[in-house]
Amino acid sequence: MSENRITVLTEEPVARIRPEVYGHFAEHLGGCIYPGVWVGEGSSIPNTGGIRNDVVAALRRLAPPVLRWPGGCFADDYHWEDGVGPRSERPRTVNMWWGEDIETNEFGTHEFIHLCRMIGAEPYICGNVGSGSPYELRSWLEYCNFAGDSTLARRRAENGASEPFGVRYWGVGNENWGCGGTMCPEDYGVEYKRYATYLHDISGTELFLIACGPNGNNPDWTRRFLSKVYTSRRGPRMHGFAAHYYCGTAGTSTEYTDDEWYALIHRAMGVEALIRQQRAVMDGYDPERKVGLIIDEWGAWHQPEPDRNPRHLWQQNTIRDALVAASSLDIFNRHADKVVMSNIAQTINVLQAMILTEGDRIVTTPTYHVYEMYRHHQRGTSVQTRFAGPDISFAHEGQEQALPALSGSASVRDDVLTLSVVNASAHDEVEALIDLRGASAELSSARVLAADDIHAHNTFDAPDTVAPADSAPLANGNQVTHRFPPASITVFRFKLGS
Ligand code: AHR
Repeated sequence: MSENRITVLTEEPVARIRPEVYGHFAEHLGGCIYPGVWVGEGSSIPNTGGIRNDVVAALRRLAPPVLRWPGGCFADDYHWEDGVGPRSERPRTVNMWWGEDIETNEFGTHEFIHLCRMIGAEPYICGNVGSGSPYELRSWLEYCNFAGDSTLARRRAENGASEPFGVRYWGVGNENWGCGGTMCPEDYGVEYKRYATYLHDISGTELFLIACGPNGNNPDWTRRFLSKVYTSRRGPRMHGFAAHYYCGTAGTSTEYTDDEWYALIHRAMGVEALIRQQRAVMDGYDPERKVGLIIDEWGAWHQPEPDRNPRHLWQQNTIRDALVAASSLDIFNRHADKVVMSNIAQTINVLQAMILTEGDRIVTTPTYHVYEMYRHHQRGTSVQTRFAGPDISFAHEGQEQALPALSGSASVRDDVLTLSVVNASAHDEVEALIDLRGASAELSSARVLAADDIHAHNTFDAPDTVAPADSAPLANGNQVTHRFPPASITVFRFKLGS
């Protein structure tokens, strides 16, 4: 019998996995919005009201729960009124952060809401704190959410939406320690309280306000910010606290050694240390855990590709990126009692994208397939797991390090157990015993994402090089052995019996 063991404690719940943990992020940056989403009504690319149909169809398959927009750094230089009203009259502005591209403002609030409705996602608007004002943000909120007869609500109706949008998720700035105003935590704390004061639950929409957290795992930012905002017994009006965690790169997006393969996956898994440390600091101020931790932007950030504008952050996406995504999502699932949302950066044509577009063609990336396979975890109850397998040693930047070959997470919904397992070993199959405690499995199905070459990726000419395949179902019973292919992600679905 195998010494490697995956134990699933089906009767030891962690918490319900909020669907928003599988969220996305689309910024006015490079090709994300133009032409990743928006091609305009007159385009020869099939579209609905200017939004491309192929991208909508692909995104819908992921069941995206939430979409964060319009940035990123762009958000703190965005003035919402530029993006409403007749498109032909909207100003042409300069995207200062991302390549000085001309921003036509054709894609604004109404187009964003339209996109969200088409893909079935909740809109999440990130407000402008860096160069805006509390009045500007509360007016955007009124424009979106007010059901009565105000001038702004009338304007929304004149622009085609008589019913309020009911936007729940509002970010109070983005990276306010950097592109969102270069503030220290205390200064941002003052601004946060000021802005939050004017963001009301109007016309029955209960807001979920999100504060800007640290750059990576910086407990000092968190402690100093929280000391500033926890000034009354009730605490601040804050529902989420958002850290950003980019694991960077090792090698390039498509060329890397085995050590670099491991180094990137290892760094991605560093988000667990962030979660543990940030939640410990948050617990000191919020022992009842009313405020959720959000990983608002995350993913791999490779070097700019040759022949591409470096400010457009376009990058290829390989099976290694898929393992980065899967290992991270497993960590979020395991911390479902604190992590309430995550938004991978970014949806289309930017950083660790789901989709790449070229003219009228699209290709889905290995990371896309992870989201499609992992969608079954959404709304499940995360349960405790133990992974005992080999450790892989590797060297990177002069340091000897180790990474567990096997990792994953499990959740139960409607008597179906979803178990996701990553085998990070670049070249070795790993056999492990799956030990289901507290329930027996009657039926199972399994899908696997794997590639013979650890550099494998999808291109417009070979779009299915990395694609999920069905794996043989496991035998019934509580204990079954499975051989996990190298460099793979497997998702099992067990029907639980009593
Ligand atoms: O996702 C790209 C950029 O990374 C975002 O605009 C910013 O918030 C972060 O630094």
